[in-house]
Amino acid sequence: MEDVVILGIESSCDETAAAVVVNGRDVRSNVIYSQVPLHTIYGGVVPEIASRKHIEKVNQVIRKALSDANMTWDDITAIAVTYGPGLVGPLLVGVGTAKAISYAKKIPLVGVHHIEGHISANYIENKDLEPPFMCLVASGGHSHIVKCTDYGKYEIIGRTRDDAAGEAFDKVARAIGLGYPGGPKVDKLAKEGNPDAIEFPRAKFADAPYDFSFSGIKSAVLNYLNSCEMKGIEVNRADVAASFQKAVIEVLTDHAVRAAKDHGCDKLALAGGVAANSSLREHMRKSAEAVGISFYNPSLIFCTDNAAMIGAAGYYDYLRGIRDDYSLNAVPNLKI
Ligand code: KG4
Ligand code: ZN
Repeated sequence: MEDVVILGIESSCDETAAAVVVNGRDVRSNVIYSQVPLHTIYGGVVPEIASRKHIEKVNQVIRKALSDANMTWDDITAIAVTYGPGLVGPLLVGVGTAKAISYAKKIPLVGVHHIEGHISANYIENKDLEPPFMCLVASGGHSHIVKCTDYGKYEIIGRTRDDAAGEAFDKVARAIGLGYPGGPKVDKLAKEGNPDAIEFPRAKFADAPYDFSFSGIKSAVLNYLNSCEMKGIEVNRADVAASFQKAVIEVLTDHAVRAAKDHGCDKLALAGGVAANSSLREHMRKSAEAVGISFYNPSLIFCTDNAAMIGAAGYYDYLRGIRDDYSLNAVPNLKI
C-alpha cells in the first residue's frame, strides 16, 4: 500500500505547531513554536495575543515541518487540522491556513478533534497499541476517562464535574506564587516536598465512580494558605505542591485503573498535558501493571500540544474516509 503522508496543523491554544506523519505512527518532523514566554507575564494565555502570534508564525512553522521531513507539497496526501475544542481565534488561524493550502495545492482536508489528537499521541511510539483500550485524558481544559473502542470511536466512561486537572494545577501554582504555566512548576517543586504533610480532600461520587471533581481540592489549598496567613504560620510551598499533587494523582490513577479493570480493558493509556507529570506517569504505571494492565504514555513532547498527534489522529480519520470541505469552521466547544 502506498504511504499516507499527513501534514498536521495545531493552533488551539498557545502552541503553533506543524508535523509530518507517515502512516499514522512515523513522525518525520515535529515543529512547535511555543508562545509560553509571551503569556507568562499575564499569568495565563491571552487569546488575542495568541491569535496574532499564530498568524505571524503559522507559515514559518509549516514550511519548517516540510523541510525537516525532506518533503514537498507533492508528497502530502492530506492536511489534518485541529478545528476544536480550543480558543476560537487561535483555532481559526490553523483552520484558515489549512483550508487555503488545501485549496491552492488541491490536497484533501481533514478536521481533527483536539482530544482525539491527544489520545492518538499514544500510537506514535507504541507501534503495537491498537483499540480497544482505556485512556485517561487530562489537560488544561479536559479530564475524561475515555474507552477507545476502535479507531475514531470513543465512549465516555467518566468526566470532571467542574475544573479540569490541569486547571487545578495552574490555579494552585498561581496561589503558591509559582506563576504560569503551573503544571510543570508544581511537578518540579513537589519533588522537594513531603506528599503526606497536608491531607487534601479526594472527591468521590457514589453514583458515578469514574467522575472527577477538582474544584474542592483547589479551594482546600486556598483555605489552607489563608489559614496559615491568619495564624502567621510560614507556608512550606513544596509540601503544599507535593500534597496537592499526591491527592490529584491518586484520584486520577484510582479511577482510570478501576475503569480499565471494570470494563475488561487490559490496556490503559494516558494523554493530555497533565500526562507530562512525572509522578502521575510513575504512579499510574505501577498501579496498572500491579493488576496486569499494560500501561502506555507518550513521551513528554507528545503529551503537551503538538501537531504530530493531530497527524496521527488525522491518518485514521483519513483512512475512514473523513474529508472536510471549505466550510470547515473552528468549533471552540466541540464535544467528544
Ligand atoms: O494538553 P495541553 O498542553 O493543553 C490543553 O489542551 O489544555 O495541557 C496543558 C495543561 C496545563 O494545565 C498544564 O499546567 C498541564 O497541562 N501540565 C502539567 C504538566 N505539564 C503540563 N500538569 C502537571 N504536571 C506537568 N508536568
Ligand atoms: Zn491540548
